[in-house]
Amino acid sequence: MAKPVSLFVCTECGAQTRQFFGRCSSCGSWNTLIEQAAAPPADQRRRRPVPAPGEALAPAGARRSEPISAVGERPLQRLGSGYGEFDRVLGGGLVPGSLVLLGGDPGIGKSTLLLQSAQSMAARTSVLYVSAEESAQQVKLRWRRLAEAEAQQASGSGPVADADLQLLSETDLELVLQELEALRPAVAIIDSIQALHDGELSSAPGSVAQVRECAAALARIAKRQHTALLLVGHVTKEGALAGPKVLEHLVDAVLTFEGDRFASHRLLRAVKNRFGATHELGVFEMRDRGLAEVTNPSELFLGGEEPSSGSATIVACEGTRPLVVELQALVSTTSYASPRRSATGIAVNRLHQILAVLEKHMGLPLSRFDCYLAVAGGLEVEEPAADLGVAAAVVASFRDLTLPPGTLLIGELGLGGQLRPVSQLELRLGEAARLGFTRAVVPRGSGLGPVAAGLGLELLEAATIAQALVAALGVNPADDRA
Ligand code: TYD
Ligand code: MG
Repeated sequence: MAKPVSLFVCTECGAQTRQFFGRCSSCGSWNTLIEQAAAPPADQRRRRPVPAPGEALAPAGARRSEPISAVGERPLQRLGSGYGEFDRVLGGGLVPGSLVLLGGDPGIGKSTLLLQSAQSMAARTSVLYVSAEESAQQVKLRWRRLAEAEAQQASGSGPVADADLQLLSETDLELVLQELEALRPAVAIIDSIQALHDGELSSAPGSVAQVRECAAALARIAKRQHTALLLVGHVTKEGALAGPKVLEHLVDAVLTFEGDRFASHRLLRAVKNRFGATHELGVFEMRDRGLAEVTNPSELFLGGEEPSSGSATIVACEGTRPLVVELQALVSTTSYASPRRSATGIAVNRLHQILAVLEKHMGLPLSRFDCYLAVAGGLEVEEPAADLGVAAAVVASFRDLTLPPGTLLIGELGLGGQLRPVSQLELRLGEAARLGFTRAVVPRGSGLGPVAAGLGLELLEAATIAQALVAALGVNPADDRA
């Protein structure tokens, strides 16, 4: 019998077969079998030579254990990507030998971001850019455009003519691996992992099996020769990165690049990071000549200058980064049997909950009104600390009131109408003060009175939603037609 090249493994139960079935014969799940290259029997595998003690470049698997006290500590060397915003999300720069997956919707700017950083890094170290989706010509054209833009911005420095940037347009994994071994670059960019193809496997490029094998092979080489590897991954229809969780355990950091295709700003986040904090945020703006950093993003998410009824300002925290964001609500009499509720940038269930609390504890008849809510600038706010802001925006629109300018609302809303404390309040207040806010309504018991006074902020503490709204609006919205 011929030796099988492939093995099919069930992602649910781990059962292995040599033939593909639509349904796993072991656990009965549908469409869970994925193809893998079968490993040769253990006795036929090549044994790795045991490295001499202290040999740095030995494959990770071949090392011997040692007492933790004997393990030398070396500070992580990091390589700047050329962009402060990118470095922040990476945790301070790219770590040699690390694997970073950059995911995002098609057309969001992943290739642009990496090509721009490649341009900057290539002035300091060797970079290999593997384009599996575009021809070398296309990449070169874009590179030239970006380089010219860079030269215009920093007049004088110009495009780096002697930059150590190698370009390879290739989809065959084997050839990419060979090139990596031959060049041993400090940084390699693979754009994208889904477009690479391992000839050993029969499945199509982009399938779970292909993506996993290609990434694993690249990871082995990168770790061995201390190449920092940046992989581009597309987001699938379901919003997962390169198949469900296929790569996330394999890489050191997972970054996502997101944003509204119709707005120009882009957000870079760390979902996982072995070398830094997660939930850090980097903000970029897509210009006609590439991506530019936005170092003062709060201004981006503030609405217009004129305060209007139905808008409220909150401070959301993304990692260690406070962002002042404007929320806008529109409440209008419904003409439907069941009123419409829609929310952009905030989970609609959260809006439902807040409306229910307002109806129950403030006596506002919101169930007869349509309610629309939007976060300015297209940001997604997940934190419950935004609750009070949402409630205030809704009530302000409902009663046609305008919040006094310079007012900030921070607090989580309990189902009983009480305000709950939020994390990192001091940080949030600091950011608000920096942008010129003068009043902040916060949950009671923050103990930050003196801090706020030092920042020039009037701190209004409230125990319940009713108290908070009275403090913010200056009138009681529960009084009929306030
Ligand atoms: P790209 O980096 O190709 O996206 P991805 O690799 O994530 O698929 O970016 C493509 C989009 O970016 C495209 O719609 C055009 C836009 N863009 C600009 O607006 N300005 C530029 O300078 C560049 C290079 C791209
Ligand atoms: Mg691309």
